[in-house]
Amino acid sequence: MEFEQVEYTYPCCHKPALNSLTLQIGEFQRYGIIGRNGCGKTTLFRLANGLYRPQRGIIRWQGMPLSYHNRALNQLRQQVGLVFQDPEQQLVGATVEEDLSYGLCNLGLPKGEIAHRVQQALLDFDLTDLGDTPVNYLSLGQKKRLSLADVMILQPKLLLLDEPTAYLDPYQTRHLVVTLEQIRAKGTTILIATHDLDFVYAWADWLFVLEGGQLRLEGSPESVFSQRKLMEALGLGIPLSLDLLTAFSEESFFSQSRQVNSEEKITLTGEEFRQWILRRWQKN
Ligand SMILES: Nc1ncnc2c1ncn2[C@@H]1O[C@H](COP(=O)(O)OP(=O)(O)OP(=O)(O)O)[C@@H](O)[C@H]1O
Ligand SMILES: [Mg+2]
Repeated sequence: MEFEQVEYTYPCCHKPALNSLTLQIGEFQRYGIIGRNGCGKTTLFRLANGLYRPQRGIIRWQGMPLSYHNRALNQLRQQVGLVFQDPEQQLVGATVEEDLSYGLCNLGLPKGEIAHRVQQALLDFDLTDLGDTPVNYLSLGQKKRLSLADVMILQPKLLLLDEPTAYLDPYQTRHLVVTLEQIRAKGTTILIATHDLDFVYAWADWLFVLEGGQLRLEGSPESVFSQRKLMEALGLGIPLSLDLLTAFSEESFFSQSRQVNSEEKITLTGEEFRQWILRRWQKN
């Protein structure tokens, strides 16, 4: 998907929410998008999914400018799935199974195929025990899981996830990472908007940094977060693991090696960081 000089201003607003935004989602499979509250992440997703139409600029999907007729939009939304920040906006069925089958019924798929896909989604998203449960009895975290399942059941090529880790407990966050890996392995490209810097640092192949509706910076997580001053000036800062790592190396906490070897980059989480510290500790 490509955004070229895209501008979008909400009705009754003077200031554009997205302003001359140009970016390409292409060759990698795990994209992160970060930026302060109100920088335009959710607006970008709504444009990518055809919910909003830009006043200026072009959005292309698979090389073709988006078309805004109903049929074209239905096709687009099957291929570009959007999981909302707030799951309450996504869920439509009375029960979990009904909710899962809703999009498939709209596609006019045969009943057997719908039943098969619903059962598979219940398994894939750890919802088997909740099939008959009314949607409004679910916890917020369970609703988030269901809203991801609702989108994935349509087998999109590009998955847009708005704040997927919000409201999840640590177990479900780890489970989400495994689920995302399974989704990616099947060939779906994933773009996640998040405030969780540790998560994107560990997970993404490529990051977009937005500020005031514009693309301020993009690159691998390593190159983006190596620009510490800029990231701080943007009000974002850098992931905690990287921050600690840099502090240790700057303070020559480990006497034998003052510099962090770039190949030893901490890729994730407390556990990997703990392992790194232990290895370094044992060397000294
Ligand atoms: N429905 C709306 N009507 C008017 N202005 C809106 C609307 N939704 C968002 N905005 C404005 O558009 C800008 C971008 O908002 P957006 O929701 O895209 O930001 P965001 O990066 O997703 O923020 P957050 O991190 O808080 O989710 C903000 O200035 C916001 O106030
Ligand atoms: Mg948002």
